Parts: sequence; C-alpha cells; structure tokens
Amino acid sequence: MRDYREFLGEVLIPEDKLQARIAELGAQISRDYVGKDPILVCILRGGVLFLTDLMRKITIPHSIEFMAVSSYGVGGRQSSGKVRISLDLNVDIQNRNVILVEDIIDSGYTIAAVYDLLTTRKPASICVCTLLDKADRREVPVAVKYTGFSIPNKFVFGYGLDIDDYYRNLPFIGVVDLEKYQAGA
Ligand code: IMP
Ligand code: MG
Repeated sequence: MRDYREFLGEVLIPEDKLQARIAELGAQISRDYVGKDPILVCILRGGVLFLTDLMRKITIPHSIEFMAVSSYGVGGRQSSGKVRISLDLNVDIQNRNVILVEDIIDSGYTIAAVYDLLTTRKPASICVCTLLDKADRREVPVAVKYTGFSIPNKFVFGYGLDIDDYYRNLPFIGVVDLEKYQAGA
C-alpha cells in the first residue's frame, strides 16, 4: 500500500484542531446530558477514532455501542441511498438517550437510515453527533445536533475515514488529490 504523502492534496484539519474541537464537543455533551446516562452509538468503522477521543472528553456516565452500516450500489466513494445494517445493536434502547456518533455526513442517506431505524425502538431521545459535515452534498434532510467541522465537497481521509479501506489511522483529516491517487493505482 502506498504512502499517503503521494496523494495528499492538503491537510484540511490538523491534529491539534481536531482534538481541540472534540474537547469542546465532549464538554457540550457533558453539560447537555447530565443525569441522562446517554448511549453513544458509534457507526463503524469510520466513527471509531472520533468515538474513542470524544468519550475521553465526556465527564458524565455513559455507555458505548456499535453499529455497522454499508451502502451499496455504487463504489466506495458515494452513497447509493440503499443502506444495509450489517451489525445491529446488542442492547435495548427503549427509554434511553441515544447519541449517534458518525465520522462524516455526505448525502445523509446512511445516518438517516440509522436514525429512522433506531427511532422505531422508542428511545427517550436520539440525536446525531458528526465530526464532519459536507452540508452542500445533502440529499435527504438530517437534523444534526453536534457538528465538529463543516467542510467543502472534497474527498477526505484520515482520522477514521478511509480510502479503499486504508489510511484510517492518520491523526489528521487530509484531502485526497484524486488525480495523483488514481495515477498511482
Ligand atoms: P452518506 O450516506 O452519503 O451521508 O455517506 C456517509 C458515509 O460515506 C460516511 O460514513 C463515510 O463512510 C463515507 N464518506 C462520505 N464522504 C467521505 C469522504 O470524503 N471520505 C471518506 N469517506 C466518506
Ligand atoms: Mg467509508
């Protein structure tokens, strides 16, 4: 697998800015959910780094759970609108306060499908917390309660986000130079 520097267009959000914003979100959630013992539901796999850093900044009691969702029909860089739950929750969320933790919202299909499914299970509340939001790309409306950063319509990677399943480990958000990426493929 190639070194990411071969196709890194620019560092969009450096590590210190990511961590500073995540600390703010953690503090905000800690204030908003006092006495509510929320469940953070991480959407695998992209949300993993965000979840683990965010939860360390949340100072109130909470639990974590995982779901995996895939959208199919088109390649890895675009949602098709058809979303499949490949890993469901192991707990009953009825009367619980659920916070969905996502890496990025693009068209909105993925998070909308999860939101609608979990809503049928009668949680006390449910909201969306996303690290990144490409709001210009939205095709279905999504109410987002917590947003880390609004970003332009560029393909990004690192900090949980993959390119063809790699590079999730990078501690920053980078923009892919698609010409360079495809030239070396
Ligand atoms: P949506 O269903 O179109 O909102 O897409 C959301 C999912 O697409 C995210 O959970 C990501 O897995 C993936 N995705 C969207 N944009 C990007 C990107 O720029 N880089 C990496 N993955 C992305
Ligand atoms: Mg992905």
